[in-house]
Amino acid sequence: MAGSPGLSLRRIAAIVFAAGIAAAPAGAAEGGPTGSDAMIDDLIARMSLEEKVGQLTLVSSTLAVTGPEVTADLESAVAAGRVGAVFNAFGADYTRHLQRIAVEETRLGIPLLFAHDVLHGFRTVFPIPLGIAATFDPAAAGEAARVAAVEASAAGVHWTFAPMVDIARDPRWGRVAEGAGESPYLGALIAAAQVAGFQGRDLAAPDTVAATAKHFAGYGAAEAGRDYNTTDLSERVLRETYLPPFRAATETGVAAVMPGFNDLDGVPATANAWLIEDVLRGEWGFGGVVVSDYTAIPELKAHGIAADDRDAARLAFTAGTDIDMQGGLFLAELPRLVEAGRIPMASVDRAVRRVLKLKAALGLFDDPFRYSDPERERTQTLTAEHLDAARRIARQSLVLLENEGNVLPFESDMPAIAVIGPLAHDAASMLGPWAGAGDPAQASTLADGVRRAVAPGTRVLVEPAGEIERSSAQDIARAIAVAEKASAVVLALGERAGMSGEAASRADIGLPGDQLALARAVAATGRPVAVVLFSGRPLTLTALREAVPVLLQAWFPGTAAGDAIADVLFGRAEPTGRLPISFPRAVGQIPVHHDAKPTGRPASGSHYTSRYLDLPNDPLYPFGWGLSSYTDFEIGPPRPDRETLARGGRLGISVDVTNTGDRVGTETVQLYVRDLVGCVTRPVMELKGVRRVTLRSGETGTVRFDLTDRDLSFWRRDMTFGPEPGRFEVLVGPNAAETRSAFFELVGP
Ligand code: NOJ
Repeated sequence: MAGSPGLSLRRIAAIVFAAGIAAAPAGAAEGGPTGSDAMIDDLIARMSLEEKVGQLTLVSSTLAVTGPEVTADLESAVAAGRVGAVFNAFGADYTRHLQRIAVEETRLGIPLLFAHDVLHGFRTVFPIPLGIAATFDPAAAGEAARVAAVEASAAGVHWTFAPMVDIARDPRWGRVAEGAGESPYLGALIAAAQVAGFQGRDLAAPDTVAATAKHFAGYGAAEAGRDYNTTDLSERVLRETYLPPFRAATETGVAAVMPGFNDLDGVPATANAWLIEDVLRGEWGFGGVVVSDYTAIPELKAHGIAADDRDAARLAFTAGTDIDMQGGLFLAELPRLVEAGRIPMASVDRAVRRVLKLKAALGLFDDPFRYSDPERERTQTLTAEHLDAARRIARQSLVLLENEGNVLPFESDMPAIAVIGPLAHDAASMLGPWAGAGDPAQASTLADGVRRAVAPGTRVLVEPAGEIERSSAQDIARAIAVAEKASAVVLALGERAGMSGEAASRADIGLPGDQLALARAVAATGRPVAVVLFSGRPLTLTALREAVPVLLQAWFPGTAAGDAIADVLFGRAEPTGRLPISFPRAVGQIPVHHDAKPTGRPASGSHYTSRYLDLPNDPLYPFGWGLSSYTDFEIGPPRPDRETLARGGRLGISVDVTNTGDRVGTETVQLYVRDLVGCVTRPVMELKGVRRVTLRSGETGTVRFDLTDRDLSFWRRDMTFGPEPGRFEVLVGPNAAETRSAFFELVGP
């Protein structure tokens, strides 16, 4: 039996580190003598107010520096000390060029910070973050981040605007693609692993990058799933559901935090002193940098809480935002606010100190060019090792939703196989909506992957059958003709990458265009059909499920997409992914998630209960769903070591797992808990443990979980955090809907 270790935050860091994937969290590490506190204080003492606000200014290299007072181009703005950090600038040569201007032409020679959105890979692209979460394997998340850091840092990038750790329960929101899904527990594990992977043990090492936990906080709760929209959450829901991944990121030493675009209880996050100063810095002791999102500071005017630019700058700055991304308002307004006595110089110095400390922690005062390394850029980019990792993790991200009649795995030596559908060879979509510096020309499409996987004598017939949004009658007729020539069909359906991600909300999350008609027509040929579904979000699949026997959820798998999918289609690798987010039957059910609250009238056959007249309450595919490899498993009931858990103690829970099928396979055992009676209502179940276990045919293994009272803690009626004595249900199973239970009692004061 091969199993994964326990998944507490500490242990996840251990997994990532032990695998040589990353080192211990860096935190706000001190620099060498050149980056010492004394050196930074001395530097601040020599800076003019304009130079200080320059350090608080972050601009995109692809756009001119805008704002009332800044119209110069990037290079002259850097030379004038008006810019402390640049994003979207990468490439060893280009970053060296800009850095030279900062170091040689400015009065104080303070190096620039180069930032980029490196979310799931830089040149070697991994699955989108939702796909990474579908591995249910934090070590995989850590490894992907580690590879991304190696490649990005060689190209001069010091700082990534990742991980995005927003919990999301509304698949209309396109940015569900960028996060780890609906579970605060899984989200926290993945967030910690990603931070550890990006930052490594030593932030000053030339192959690590500073990470940013974003978007703080509640951004994923955008009303109606419309991006940038308002959010309104009780403090309890915010703390229990949306904050845990941020807390995990800060506990792992994340260097930066980015407030969301959303307002929360009436206060935009960028200007929300309670969030930034009280919770993040006060309660959690976060000592890093808070960077606004793109033009979020001027947007305070559109939110209607700032009358003008000066007001917007003042509100954001006094709430604790240190760096203005692309808004130009700190640069334009902070000096006058300081001169007018509205903002104390000491506050500006504090923000500048945080920025300079980050530069020092990255080692930039020792050597501003250490990350921009043309040789490393050439030799450590898209390496065989990175591509192998991308393929392995892409495979792990695939979720086999259906395999009726065991249509999969396909034989690789059939006479002819058809790859049909608008995503059959859409290389750009394979990389997802936020592909770093990934090049579609490097990505393997599904057609490529199938071609490479089949026997030399097997013909591969490829037919796009129209576009994602439209297939004509002729397109569908061509698809039928091609299917009829083949022994089996792989249907590549779903969304184009740009249909999810930022500013890509959809009100109808069904299969776009005429793809359902295409699937029905191809299935009607009687050929065995496997649908490979690409999407950055859960789609509503009720009708498609009825039309075809096999559904393989592929998300956007990255550079190795086609090869990884072919590995699973032809049984060279087992499908082991699990859904990190529930798939609703229809948009009207949203939000639907495993950790729902009970109601006073739980759904039953009787009329006056909490239910729909036209649909069941449960999702089409529950959280944690995914067929377990091409074999079967039986998961026994949970066996707590004792009937009671004492406060401060630990309760072991054993679960027997048997591979009852005829192939080796991996099962993902999930543990949920329910607090049966609390001072406030508690969710019907909450994920609290995951174990992946690989077993041979006929083999039985035992997995162990540990629960402590921290796992049972919640924000009580008086808003203190802790557990309450009483009875708990512990549920285990292969997903949130098929569980077996046992009970125990938490005892003590
Ligand atoms: C806006 C997005 O909300 C944020 O996630 C991203 O980091 C910035 N743009 C910079 O690209």
